[in-house]
Amino acid sequence: MLPTLVRESWVERSFPREPEPELVMDDPEQVEAYVRAGRIDSDMAAAYLFHSARVTQLIQGCEFVVDLACGPATQLAQIAALNPTIEFLGIDLSRSMLDSAQAHVTELGLTNVRFEKTDITHLADIRDASADAVISTMALHHLPTLGLLEGCFREIRRILKPGGKLYLADFGRLKSLNSVLFFAYMNRRHQPHLFSLDYERSLRAAFLPADFVKLTRDLFGAGYQVLSTALVPILVLIKSRQEQAICGTAAERLKAMRQALPRRYRRELDDMRLLFWLGGLRGDPFP
Ligand SMILES: C[S@@+](CC[C@H](N)C(=O)[O-])C[C@H]1O[C@@H](n2cnc3c(N)ncnc32)[C@H](O)[C@@H]1O
Repeated sequence: MLPTLVRESWVERSFPREPEPELVMDDPEQVEAYVRAGRIDSDMAAAYLFHSARVTQLIQGCEFVVDLACGPATQLAQIAALNPTIEFLGIDLSRSMLDSAQAHVTELGLTNVRFEKTDITHLADIRDASADAVISTMALHHLPTLGLLEGCFREIRRILKPGGKLYLADFGRLKSLNSVLFFAYMNRRHQPHLFSLDYERSLRAAFLPADFVKLTRDLFGAGYQVLSTALVPILVLIKSRQEQAICGTAAERLKAMRQALPRRYRRELDDMRLLFWLGGLRGDPFP
């Protein structure tokens, strides 16, 4: 398996993309499974903490941040709790996801997050140049076509203030189906089958890193960069170039949150940090 994986790189061609069977996640059973996988001490805990730290680093000083396709807001709530002075708007098209998201932030007592049911390719209710930052995690592969991804990027450009902050994280399409199956099922002993299946579908639906690079260059310009995990571009980040220091309380909380992760997830988080560092991402936010 290893030689196939090592041959993965910033692929321009691969197996044909297969859009997600359920684009908008409205099935309550699926929503419930996704929520379970994401709460603390669960399979997505490391990735959530990685993105929370990186987003926190980027949005220091912002007032209004939009999260595209926020799902059940596990990620968004973690970011909002770390940044209580910032107002967040979570967007999703699934009513079930938004119900779960609202219940989650209410339970946590967060007052700086609201939600809207909107399509991320058509953000009609958000004014031009009104957002200090736009973020999105693990959601863009839900868009059925490259044309809609471009539509979403055009909307982001429209609502972002000039020089606004950007953090879009998603899967990158791998060169071979062998690699997709390897990654989707490598932790199958520790995770529910539905989670592995969902992971496989996401990897089959991922856009090519080269597509993200072209759209970023054409629509956002030189202030933004596309990076991926080293060797295998399974995760891709499109982000503003500037890193900022995280101020006092949030930095302490992030440190404590990393320490509190069960050992397996802490190792996963540190692997992500290393793989992105090898992929060119600098300014590690964990103290
Ligand atoms: C895998 S979830 C990611 C949720 C969240 N960002 C996270 O990191 O946990 C993908 C979400 O995208 C939403 N979605 C898919 N297509 C959408 C669209 N066109 N507009 C808004 N939301 C969409 C789905 O309903 C689902 O909640």
